Amino acid sequence: MEELEIYDAIGEAGFERLVGAFYRQVPGDDILGPMYPAEDLAGAEERLRDFLVGRFGGPQRYIEQRGHPRLRMRHMPFQIDTRARDRWIQLMNRALIEAALPAEVNAAFREFFDAVATMMVNRS
Ligand code: HEM
Repeated sequence: MEELEIYDAIGEAGFERLVGAFYRQVPGDDILGPMYPAEDLAGAEERLRDFLVGRFGGPQRYIEQRGHPRLRMRHMPFQIDTRARDRWIQLMNRALIEAALPAEVNAAFREFFDAVATMMVNRS
């Protein structure tokens, strides 16, 4: 499946399920929990969801509201070592299982998250 066809395949609801399942795990996580804004987890959830929606063929709400993603730069304030990266992927993989998306969408997301998460590592 082409990346830009994913939005049509799973709709807004698919992204909501995935990102909701990810963020439900964040507050209780010993590595990631303290990094995310406890008072604005709903906002963080919306930012990731809107980014993914725009990246995979849906409306460009993220860019309209936040501008160019520049994700590596935006992650610099957080200490992301390989342990944090691997934990992020672990939570996202659990969220992917819970969201039960079509197999090709699941595979495309896994590949994308794996690559982007590796790019976010900014501490050794
Ligand atoms: C490698 C491990 C990662 C860690 C520890 C991490 C951590 C964080 C944290 C703490 C925030 C701030 C939450 C907020 O207020 O929005 C954030 C924001 C964000 N992250 Fe990550 N992240 C990781 C990987 C990723 C990946 C792989 C993606 C994309 C697929 C991503 C996309 C985003 C987006 C779009 C935002 C919002 C940026 C903004 O507009 O300010 N992150 N991340």
